[in-house]
Amino acid sequence: MRFLVVGGGAREHAIAATLERANATVVVASANANPGLEAIAAASARIDPTDGPRVVAFARAQRVDAAVIGPEAPLAAGVADALRAAEVPTVGPSRDAARIESSKVFCRELLARHSIPASPRVATPASVDDVDRAVAEIGSPFVVKPDGLTAGKGVWVQGSDFTDPKEGAVYAKSLLLQGGRVLLEEKLEGEEFSQMVFVSDDGVYPMPAVQDFKRALEGNRGGNTGGMGAYSQRDHLLPFLPEADRNAAVDIVRRTVDALRADGMRYRGVLYGGFMLTARGPVLVEFNARFGDPEGINAMTLYEEGDFAGLLLGVATGHVDPNLVRFRLRSTVVKYLVPPGYGDRPQPGGLLTIDAAAIEAEGVHVLYGSVDAAGPGTVRLGNSRGVALVGEASAIHEAGSRVESALAHVRGEYYVRHDIGTKEDLARRVEHLRQLRAPGAKPSPLPLSVAPPAAPPSSAGTREQLIG
Ligand code: AMP
Ligand code: GLY
Repeated sequence: MRFLVVGGGAREHAIAATLERANATVVVASANANPGLEAIAAASARIDPTDGPRVVAFARAQRVDAAVIGPEAPLAAGVADALRAAEVPTVGPSRDAARIESSKVFCRELLARHSIPASPRVATPASVDDVDRAVAEIGSPFVVKPDGLTAGKGVWVQGSDFTDPKEGAVYAKSLLLQGGRVLLEEKLEGEEFSQMVFVSDDGVYPMPAVQDFKRALEGNRGGNTGGMGAYSQRDHLLPFLPEADRNAAVDIVRRTVDALRADGMRYRGVLYGGFMLTARGPVLVEFNARFGDPEGINAMTLYEEGDFAGLLLGVATGHVDPNLVRFRLRSTVVKYLVPPGYGDRPQPGGLLTIDAAAIEAEGVHVLYGSVDAAGPGTVRLGNSRGVALVGEASAIHEAGSRVESALAHVRGEYYVRHDIGTKEDLARRVEHLRQLRAPGAKPSPLPLSVAPPAAPPSSAGTREQLIG
Protein backbone atom coordinates (compact mmCIF):
# COMPACT_ATOMS: atom_id res chain seq x y z
CA MET A 1 0.00 0.00 0.00
CA ARG A 2 1.26 3.47 -0.87
CA PHE A 3 0.59 6.29 1.61
CA LEU A 4 1.04 10.03 1.37
CA VAL A 5 2.12 11.62 4.66
CA VAL A 6 1.45 15.37 4.79
CA GLY A 7 3.71 17.32 7.16
CA GLY A 8 7.36 17.26 8.20
CA GLY A 9 7.69 17.02 11.98
CA ALA A 10 8.55 14.25 14.45
CA ARG A 11 4.88 13.20 14.63
CA GLU A 12 4.90 12.69 10.86
CA HIS A 13 8.22 10.83 11.17
CA ALA A 14 6.46 8.51 13.65
CA ILE A 15 3.51 8.03 11.29
CA ALA A 16 5.86 7.18 8.42
CA ALA A 17 7.99 4.85 10.57
CA THR A 18 4.89 3.00 11.83
CA LEU A 19 3.59 2.64 8.27
CA GLU A 20 6.99 1.40 7.15
CA ARG A 21 6.89 -1.25 9.91
CA ALA A 22 3.63 -2.40 8.27
CA ASN A 23 5.44 -2.71 4.92
CA ALA A 24 3.65 0.28 3.42
CA THR A 25 5.44 2.58 1.00
CA VAL A 26 5.51 6.19 2.15
CA VAL A 27 5.74 9.40 0.14
CA VAL A 28 5.96 12.77 1.87
CA ALA A 29 4.70 16.28 1.19
CA SER A 30 6.31 18.78 3.55
CA ALA A 31 7.80 22.26 3.59
CA ASN A 32 11.06 21.05 5.16
CA ALA A 33 13.43 18.21 4.34
CA ASN A 34 13.09 16.19 7.56
CA PRO A 35 16.10 13.82 7.61
CA GLY A 36 14.05 11.06 9.28
CA LEU A 37 11.29 11.24 6.71
CA GLU A 38 13.77 11.54 3.85
CA ALA A 39 15.35 8.26 4.95
CA ILE A 40 11.99 6.46 4.82
CA ALA A 41 10.21 8.12 1.90
CA ALA A 42 10.17 6.57 -1.56
CA ALA A 43 9.54 10.08 -2.85
CA SER A 44 9.19 13.49 -1.26
CA ALA A 45 8.22 16.95 -2.40
CA ARG A 46 8.87 20.37 -0.88
CA ILE A 47 5.32 21.64 -0.79
CA ASP A 48 3.53 23.98 1.57
CA PRO A 49 1.29 21.38 3.31
CA THR A 50 -1.62 23.85 3.29
CA ASP A 51 -1.50 24.16 -0.52
CA GLY A 52 -4.35 21.80 -1.47
CA PRO A 53 -3.88 21.79 -5.26
CA ARG A 54 -0.16 21.03 -5.01
CA VAL A 55 -0.68 18.31 -2.40
CA VAL A 56 -3.36 16.73 -4.61
CA ALA A 57 -1.14 16.94 -7.71
CA PHE A 58 1.65 15.17 -5.83
CA ALA A 59 -0.75 12.50 -4.49
CA ARG A 60 -2.00 11.86 -8.04
CA ALA A 61 1.46 11.74 -9.56
CA GLN A 62 2.51 9.28 -6.87
CA ARG A 63 -0.66 7.15 -7.31
CA VAL A 64 -1.15 6.82 -3.57
CA ASP A 65 -3.83 4.57 -2.06
CA ALA A 66 -4.48 6.89 0.88
CA ALA A 67 -3.22 9.99 2.68
CA VAL A 68 -2.71 10.92 6.30
CA ILE A 69 -2.49 14.55 7.37
CA GLY A 70 -0.28 15.24 10.40
CA PRO A 71 -0.61 18.92 11.37
CA GLU A 72 -3.66 21.10 11.99
CA ALA A 73 -2.95 23.86 9.45
CA PRO A 74 -3.65 21.73 6.34
CA LEU A 75 -6.87 20.44 7.94
CA ALA A 76 -8.00 23.99 8.67
CA ALA A 77 -7.11 24.89 5.07
CA GLY A 78 -9.32 22.11 3.64
CA VAL A 79 -6.57 19.85 2.30
CA ALA A 80 -8.49 16.73 3.40
CA ASP A 81 -11.49 17.94 1.35
CA ALA A 82 -9.24 18.51 -1.68
CA LEU A 83 -7.74 15.01 -1.40
CA ARG A 84 -11.16 13.38 -1.02
CA ALA A 85 -12.47 15.31 -4.01
CA ALA A 86 -9.60 13.72 -5.92
CA GLU A 87 -10.72 10.31 -4.62
CA VAL A 88 -7.78 9.84 -2.25
CA PRO A 89 -9.11 8.30 1.00
CA THR A 90 -7.73 10.50 3.75
CA VAL A 91 -7.11 10.28 7.49
CA GLY A 92 -8.16 13.76 8.53
CA PRO A 93 -11.48 15.58 8.83
CA SER A 94 -13.00 18.09 6.43
CA ARG A 95 -12.33 21.77 6.98
CA ASP A 96 -15.82 22.12 8.45
CA ALA A 97 -15.30 19.36 11.02
CA ALA A 98 -11.73 20.48 11.75
CA ARG A 99 -13.24 23.67 13.23
CA ILE A 100 -13.50 21.55 16.37
CA GLU A 101 -9.81 22.52 16.67
CA SER A 102 -9.44 25.62 14.50
CA SER A 103 -12.23 27.53 16.28
CA LYS A 104 -12.53 27.24 20.04
CA VAL A 105 -15.83 29.13 19.84
CA PHE A 106 -17.20 26.55 17.37
CA CYS A 107 -16.09 23.78 19.75
CA ARG A 108 -17.73 25.25 22.85
CA GLU A 109 -20.92 26.06 20.93
CA LEU A 110 -21.13 22.52 19.56
CA LEU A 111 -20.86 21.02 23.05
CA ALA A 112 -23.45 23.43 24.42
CA ARG A 113 -25.88 22.93 21.53
CA HIS A 114 -25.75 19.16 22.02
CA SER A 115 -25.92 19.31 25.83
CA ILE A 116 -22.55 17.64 26.34
CA PRO A 117 -21.61 18.63 29.89
CA ALA A 118 -17.87 18.95 29.41
CA SER A 119 -17.08 22.67 29.33
CA PRO A 120 -15.96 25.07 32.03
CA ARG A 121 -17.80 28.40 32.18
CA VAL A 122 -17.05 30.29 28.98
CA ALA A 123 -17.71 33.81 27.75
CA THR A 124 -16.97 35.31 24.35
CA PRO A 125 -16.96 39.10 24.67
CA ALA A 126 -18.28 40.64 21.46
CA SER A 127 -16.23 43.82 21.76
CA VAL A 128 -13.51 45.51 23.79
CA ASP A 129 -16.21 47.26 25.83
CA ASP A 130 -17.58 43.91 26.84
CA VAL A 131 -14.38 42.43 28.27
CA ASP A 132 -14.55 43.80 31.81
CA ARG A 133 -18.10 42.59 32.24
CA ALA A 134 -17.11 39.12 30.93
CA VAL A 135 -14.14 38.98 33.31
CA ALA A 136 -16.38 39.87 36.25
CA GLU A 137 -18.85 37.20 35.23
CA ILE A 138 -16.31 34.37 34.80
CA GLY A 139 -14.48 35.37 37.97
CA SER A 140 -10.84 34.75 38.94
CA PRO A 141 -8.86 32.77 38.17
CA PHE A 142 -9.59 32.72 34.44
CA VAL A 143 -7.97 31.91 31.10
CA VAL A 144 -7.82 34.01 27.92
CA LYS A 145 -7.81 32.22 24.56
CA PRO A 146 -7.72 33.47 21.01
CA ASP A 147 -10.37 31.68 18.95
CA GLY A 148 -8.08 30.33 16.22
CA LEU A 149 -4.99 28.14 15.86
CA THR A 150 -2.07 29.31 17.99
CA ALA A 151 0.24 26.28 18.04
CA GLY A 152 -0.43 26.03 21.78
CA LYS A 153 1.17 29.40 22.43
CA GLY A 154 -1.56 32.05 22.54
CA VAL A 155 -3.41 30.91 25.67
CA TRP A 156 -2.84 32.95 28.84
CA VAL A 157 -3.62 31.34 32.18
CA GLN A 158 -4.04 33.42 35.33
CA GLY A 159 -1.41 32.46 37.88
CA SER A 160 1.06 31.43 35.15
CA ASP A 161 0.96 33.98 32.34
CA PHE A 162 -0.58 36.87 34.28
CA THR A 163 -1.44 37.63 37.89
CA ASP A 164 -3.79 40.59 37.99
CA PRO A 165 -7.17 40.07 36.26
CA LYS A 166 -6.63 43.48 34.68
CA GLU A 167 -3.61 42.11 32.78
CA GLY A 168 -5.74 39.29 31.42
CA ALA A 169 -8.40 41.79 30.40
CA VAL A 170 -5.79 43.92 28.60
CA TYR A 171 -4.58 40.84 26.72
CA ALA A 172 -8.15 39.89 25.76
CA LYS A 173 -8.76 43.43 24.52
CA SER A 174 -5.54 43.43 22.49
CA LEU A 175 -6.63 40.21 20.77
CA LEU A 176 -10.03 41.73 19.97
CA LEU A 177 -8.36 44.86 18.60
CA GLN A 178 -6.29 42.65 16.29
CA GLY A 179 -9.59 41.52 14.82
CA GLY A 180 -9.94 38.04 16.30
CA ARG A 181 -12.52 36.52 18.60
CA VAL A 182 -11.65 35.71 22.18
CA LEU A 183 -12.82 33.27 24.83
CA LEU A 184 -12.60 33.76 28.56
CA GLU A 185 -12.81 30.53 30.49
CA GLU A 186 -13.00 29.58 34.11
CA LYS A 187 -9.55 28.23 35.07
CA LEU A 188 -9.78 24.52 35.72
CA GLU A 189 -7.75 23.01 38.53
CA GLY A 190 -6.48 19.47 38.12
CA GLU A 191 -4.20 17.32 35.97
CA GLU A 192 -4.30 17.40 32.19
CA PHE A 193 -4.38 14.35 29.96
CA SER A 194 -4.86 13.64 26.28
CA GLN A 195 -7.31 11.04 25.04
CA MET A 196 -6.94 10.37 21.32
CA VAL A 197 -9.27 8.13 19.33
CA PHE A 198 -9.46 6.94 15.75
CA VAL A 199 -12.81 7.98 14.29
CA SER A 200 -14.53 6.27 11.43
CA ASP A 201 -18.11 5.93 10.25
CA ASP A 202 -18.64 2.94 12.50
CA GLY A 203 -17.35 4.28 15.79
CA VAL A 204 -14.47 5.60 17.85
CA TYR A 205 -11.44 3.52 18.78
CA PRO A 206 -9.44 4.78 21.79
CA MET A 207 -5.67 4.98 21.99
CA PRO A 208 -3.74 4.89 25.30
CA ALA A 209 -4.15 8.00 27.48
CA VAL A 210 -1.11 10.29 27.50
CA GLN A 211 0.07 13.22 29.60
CA ASP A 212 1.77 16.06 27.73
CA PHE A 213 4.11 18.65 29.28
CA LYS A 214 3.05 21.96 27.74
CA ARG A 215 5.17 24.42 29.66
CA ALA A 216 8.63 25.17 28.28
CA LEU A 217 10.62 24.83 31.51
CA GLU A 218 11.10 22.28 34.26
CA GLY A 219 8.64 22.50 37.12
CA ASN A 220 5.97 23.58 34.59
CA ARG A 221 7.29 27.11 34.41
CA GLY A 222 7.75 29.24 31.29
CA GLY A 223 5.39 29.73 28.37
CA ASN A 224 2.94 27.29 26.84
CA THR A 225 4.47 25.32 23.97
CA GLY A 226 3.28 22.69 21.52
CA GLY A 227 4.48 20.13 24.11
CA MET A 228 7.96 19.40 25.48
CA GLY A 229 7.38 15.69 26.00
CA ALA A 230 4.82 13.20 27.19
CA TYR A 231 4.40 9.86 28.91
CA SER A 232 1.95 6.98 28.85
CA GLN A 233 1.45 4.13 31.31
CA ARG A 234 1.54 0.38 30.73
CA ASP A 235 -2.20 -0.12 31.38
CA HIS A 236 -3.10 2.77 29.03
CA LEU A 237 -4.38 4.78 32.02
CA LEU A 238 -2.20 7.31 33.91
CA PRO A 239 -0.94 7.31 37.51
CA PHE A 240 -3.60 9.86 38.49
CA LEU A 241 -6.26 8.73 35.99
CA PRO A 242 -8.60 5.90 37.05
CA GLU A 243 -10.48 3.87 34.49
CA ALA A 244 -13.87 5.43 35.24
CA ASP A 245 -12.56 8.93 34.46
CA ARG A 246 -10.82 7.74 31.35
CA ASN A 247 -14.08 6.13 30.18
CA ALA A 248 -15.92 9.37 30.92
CA ALA A 249 -13.45 11.19 28.69
CA VAL A 250 -13.88 8.67 25.85
CA ASP A 251 -17.62 9.08 26.22
CA ILE A 252 -17.32 12.86 25.80
CA VAL A 253 -15.26 12.33 22.64
CA ARG A 254 -17.80 9.82 21.31
CA ARG A 255 -20.71 12.15 21.98
CA THR A 256 -18.85 14.96 20.23
CA VAL A 257 -18.38 12.82 17.12
CA ASP A 258 -22.12 12.05 17.23
CA ALA A 259 -22.82 15.78 17.57
CA LEU A 260 -20.71 16.57 14.51
CA ARG A 261 -22.51 13.86 12.58
CA ALA A 262 -25.92 15.14 13.72
CA ASP A 263 -24.87 18.55 12.37
CA GLY A 264 -24.00 17.00 9.00
CA MET A 265 -20.24 16.57 9.42
CA ARG A 266 -18.79 13.12 8.87
CA TYR A 267 -15.46 12.68 10.64
CA ARG A 268 -12.75 10.31 9.41
CA GLY A 269 -9.47 10.80 11.21
CA VAL A 270 -8.01 11.15 14.67
CA LEU A 271 -9.80 13.17 17.33
CA TYR A 272 -7.81 14.28 20.35
CA GLY A 273 -9.60 15.37 23.52
CA GLY A 274 -7.43 17.47 25.82
CA PHE A 275 -8.93 17.10 29.29
CA MET A 276 -8.38 18.43 32.77
CA LEU A 277 -9.12 15.78 35.37
CA THR A 278 -10.74 17.88 38.09
CA ALA A 279 -12.42 17.08 41.39
CA ARG A 280 -15.65 16.82 39.42
CA GLY A 281 -14.27 14.52 36.69
CA PRO A 282 -12.78 15.18 33.26
CA VAL A 283 -13.55 18.60 31.76
CA LEU A 284 -12.68 19.41 28.16
CA VAL A 285 -9.86 21.92 27.64
CA GLU A 286 -9.67 21.60 23.86
CA PHE A 287 -10.14 19.27 20.93
CA ASN A 288 -7.50 18.68 18.26
CA ALA A 289 -8.43 17.18 14.90
CA ARG A 290 -5.26 15.06 14.56
CA PHE A 291 -2.63 13.04 16.39
CA GLY A 292 -1.09 15.03 19.24
CA ASP A 293 2.53 16.02 18.93
CA PRO A 294 4.13 14.45 20.93
CA GLU A 295 1.20 12.34 22.22
CA GLY A 296 0.75 10.59 18.86
CA ILE A 297 4.37 9.49 19.12
CA ASN A 298 3.67 7.75 22.44
CA ALA A 299 0.66 5.98 20.95
CA MET A 300 2.30 4.93 17.69
CA THR A 301 5.33 3.59 19.57
CA LEU A 302 2.94 1.16 21.24
CA TYR A 303 1.16 0.10 18.08
CA GLU A 304 1.46 -3.70 17.82
CA GLU A 305 3.63 -5.02 15.04
CA GLY A 306 0.93 -5.38 12.49
CA ASP A 307 -1.20 -3.60 10.06
CA PHE A 308 -1.05 0.13 10.83
CA ALA A 309 -1.56 0.74 7.11
CA GLY A 310 -4.76 -1.33 7.20
CA LEU A 311 -5.92 0.57 10.27
CA LEU A 312 -5.33 3.99 8.70
CA LEU A 313 -6.92 2.87 5.41
CA GLY A 314 -9.94 1.70 7.42
CA VAL A 315 -10.21 5.10 9.12
CA ALA A 316 -9.92 6.84 5.75
CA THR A 317 -12.52 4.68 4.01
CA GLY A 318 -15.01 4.57 6.86
CA HIS A 319 -14.76 1.08 8.34
CA VAL A 320 -12.17 0.03 10.90
CA ASP A 321 -11.44 -3.59 11.73
CA PRO A 322 -11.41 -3.43 15.57
CA ASN A 323 -8.80 -6.20 15.59
CA LEU A 324 -6.33 -3.74 14.11
CA VAL A 325 -6.62 -1.32 17.04
CA ARG A 326 -4.00 -2.92 19.27
CA PHE A 327 -1.48 -1.25 21.54
CA ARG A 328 1.19 -3.02 23.57
CA LEU A 329 1.08 -2.97 27.38
CA ARG A 330 4.23 -0.90 27.96
CA SER A 331 4.98 2.56 29.33
CA THR A 332 6.51 5.25 27.10
CA VAL A 333 8.29 8.56 27.60
CA VAL A 334 8.98 11.08 24.83
CA LYS A 335 11.28 14.06 25.38
CA TYR A 336 11.90 16.80 22.87
CA LEU A 337 15.32 18.38 22.39
CA VAL A 338 14.63 22.01 21.53
CA PRO A 339 16.78 25.05 20.71
CA PRO A 340 17.90 27.09 23.73
CA GLY A 341 15.28 29.74 24.55
CA TYR A 342 12.41 27.73 23.04
CA GLY A 343 9.06 28.85 24.42
CA ASP A 344 10.18 32.46 24.58
CA ARG A 345 12.98 33.44 22.19
CA PRO A 346 14.35 30.33 20.47
CA GLN A 347 17.90 30.51 19.16
CA PRO A 348 17.99 28.36 16.03
CA GLY A 349 21.04 27.24 14.09
CA GLY A 350 22.82 25.16 16.75
CA LEU A 351 24.34 21.86 15.60
CA LEU A 352 23.52 18.55 17.29
CA THR A 353 25.65 15.50 16.72
CA ILE A 354 23.55 12.42 17.33
CA ASP A 355 24.84 8.87 17.51
CA ALA A 356 21.50 7.38 16.46
CA ALA A 357 22.87 3.83 16.27
CA ALA A 358 24.08 3.99 19.89
CA ILE A 359 20.73 5.41 20.99
CA GLU A 360 18.73 2.76 19.14
CA ALA A 361 21.04 0.11 20.63
CA GLU A 362 19.78 1.23 24.06
CA GLY A 363 16.20 0.66 22.89
CA VAL A 364 15.44 4.37 22.51
CA HIS A 365 14.07 5.71 19.20
CA VAL A 366 15.14 8.93 17.51
CA LEU A 367 12.56 10.97 15.61
CA TYR A 368 13.43 14.16 13.76
CA GLY A 369 11.34 17.32 13.85
CA SER A 370 12.32 20.88 13.05
CA VAL A 371 15.90 20.20 11.93
CA ASP A 372 17.93 20.22 8.71
CA ALA A 373 20.51 17.61 7.87
CA ALA A 374 24.00 19.10 8.33
CA GLY A 375 26.32 16.24 7.49
CA PRO A 376 26.61 12.64 8.68
CA GLY A 377 25.10 12.26 12.15
CA THR A 378 24.64 16.01 12.50
CA VAL A 379 21.52 18.15 12.33
CA ARG A 380 20.94 21.88 12.59
CA LEU A 381 18.18 22.97 14.99
CA GLY A 382 15.41 25.16 13.60
CA ASN A 383 13.02 27.40 15.54
CA SER A 384 10.84 24.67 16.94
CA ARG A 385 10.98 21.23 18.55
CA GLY A 386 14.02 19.53 17.05
CA VAL A 387 14.50 15.90 17.97
CA ALA A 388 12.25 13.54 19.92
CA LEU A 389 13.75 10.68 21.93
CA VAL A 390 11.31 7.89 22.75
CA GLY A 391 11.88 5.36 25.52
CA GLU A 392 9.71 2.46 26.55
CA ALA A 393 9.80 0.14 29.54
CA SER A 394 7.51 -1.56 32.00
CA ALA A 395 7.29 1.48 34.32
CA ILE A 396 7.09 5.13 33.26
CA HIS A 397 10.13 6.21 35.28
CA GLU A 398 12.21 3.44 33.70
CA ALA A 399 11.24 4.65 30.24
CA GLY A 400 12.23 8.17 31.35
CA SER A 401 15.61 6.93 32.64
CA ARG A 402 16.28 5.27 29.30
CA VAL A 403 15.78 8.56 27.49
CA GLU A 404 18.03 10.31 30.01
CA SER A 405 20.82 7.74 29.40
CA ALA A 406 20.43 8.16 25.66
CA LEU A 407 21.19 11.88 26.00
CA ALA A 408 24.83 10.84 26.53
CA HIS A 409 24.92 10.16 22.76
CA VAL A 410 23.85 13.68 21.81
CA ARG A 411 26.37 16.51 21.62
CA GLY A 412 25.56 20.19 21.11
CA GLU A 413 23.50 22.92 22.70
CA TYR A 414 19.88 22.15 23.35
CA TYR A 415 17.26 22.29 26.10
CA VAL A 416 15.34 19.26 27.38
CA ARG A 417 13.00 18.83 30.34
CA HIS A 418 14.66 16.30 32.63
CA ASP A 419 11.57 16.20 34.89
CA ILE A 420 9.32 14.38 32.41
CA GLY A 421 8.53 10.88 33.60
CA THR A 422 10.43 11.00 36.90
CA LYS A 423 9.08 9.24 39.99
CA GLU A 424 8.99 12.58 41.83
CA ASP A 425 6.92 14.28 39.14
CA LEU A 426 4.48 11.39 38.92
CA ALA A 427 4.05 11.31 42.71
CA ARG A 428 3.34 15.05 42.76
CA ARG A 429 0.58 14.66 40.21
CA VAL A 430 -1.04 11.75 42.04
CA GLU A 431 -0.93 13.75 45.28
CA HIS A 432 -2.39 16.82 43.55
CA LEU A 433 -5.46 14.84 42.45
CA ARG A 434 -5.74 13.11 45.82
CA GLN A 435 -5.90 16.47 47.57
CA LEU A 436 -8.42 17.87 45.11
CA ARG A 437 -10.65 14.85 45.55
CA ALA A 438 -10.22 14.37 49.31
CA PRO A 439 -13.43 14.44 51.32
CA GLY A 440 -13.75 17.92 52.74
CA ALA A 441 -11.68 19.52 49.97
CA LYS A 442 -12.98 22.90 48.90
CA PRO A 443 -15.79 22.09 46.47
CA SER A 444 -15.30 23.25 42.91
CA PRO A 445 -16.70 26.77 42.72
CA LEU A 446 -19.24 26.16 40.00
CA PRO A 447 -21.10 23.19 38.62
CA LEU A 448 -20.74 22.25 34.99
CA SER A 449 -23.46 23.70 32.92
CA VAL A 450 -24.85 22.83 29.53
CA ALA A 451 -27.03 25.88 29.00
CA PRO A 452 -27.42 26.51 25.27
CA PRO A 453 -25.50 29.36 23.70
CA ALA A 454 -27.08 32.77 23.85
CA ALA A 455 -27.27 35.26 20.99
CA PRO A 456 -24.90 34.72 18.05
CA PRO A 457 -21.85 36.98 17.83
CA SER A 458 -23.42 39.11 15.13
CA SER A 459 -25.95 40.51 17.61
CA ALA A 460 -24.18 43.79 18.11
CA GLY A 461 -23.09 44.72 21.57
CA THR A 462 -24.32 41.52 23.23
CA ARG A 463 -21.80 39.37 24.90
CA GLU A 464 -22.29 35.91 23.58
CA GLN A 465 -22.38 33.66 26.56
CA LEU A 466 -21.99 30.06 25.60
CA ILE A 467 -22.34 28.27 28.83
CA GLY A 468 -23.43 28.82 32.39
P1 AMP B 1 -5.52 25.07 24.57
O1 AMP B 1 -4.85 25.64 23.37
O2 AMP B 1 -6.96 25.41 24.68
O3 AMP B 1 -5.22 23.62 24.76
O4 AMP B 1 -4.78 25.72 25.83
C1 AMP B 1 -3.38 25.53 26.04
C2 AMP B 1 -3.14 25.18 27.48
O5 AMP B 1 -3.65 26.19 28.33
C3 AMP B 1 -3.85 23.91 27.93
O6 AMP B 1 -3.16 22.76 27.62
C4 AMP B 1 -3.92 24.14 29.42
O7 AMP B 1 -2.69 23.85 30.03
C5 AMP B 1 -4.17 25.61 29.51
N1 AMP B 1 -5.63 25.87 29.58
C6 AMP B 1 -6.48 26.11 28.56
N2 AMP B 1 -7.76 26.27 28.99
C7 AMP B 1 -7.72 26.13 30.33
C8 AMP B 1 -8.71 26.21 31.36
N3 AMP B 1 -10.00 26.50 31.10
N4 AMP B 1 -8.28 26.02 32.64
C9 AMP B 1 -7.00 25.77 32.93
N5 AMP B 1 -6.01 25.70 32.00
C10 AMP B 1 -6.36 25.88 30.72
N1 GLY C 1 0.77 18.34 22.39
C1 GLY C 1 -0.37 19.13 22.12
C2 GLY C 1 -0.81 19.12 20.73
O1 GLY C 1 -0.50 18.26 19.94
O2 GLY C 1 -1.53 20.04 20.35
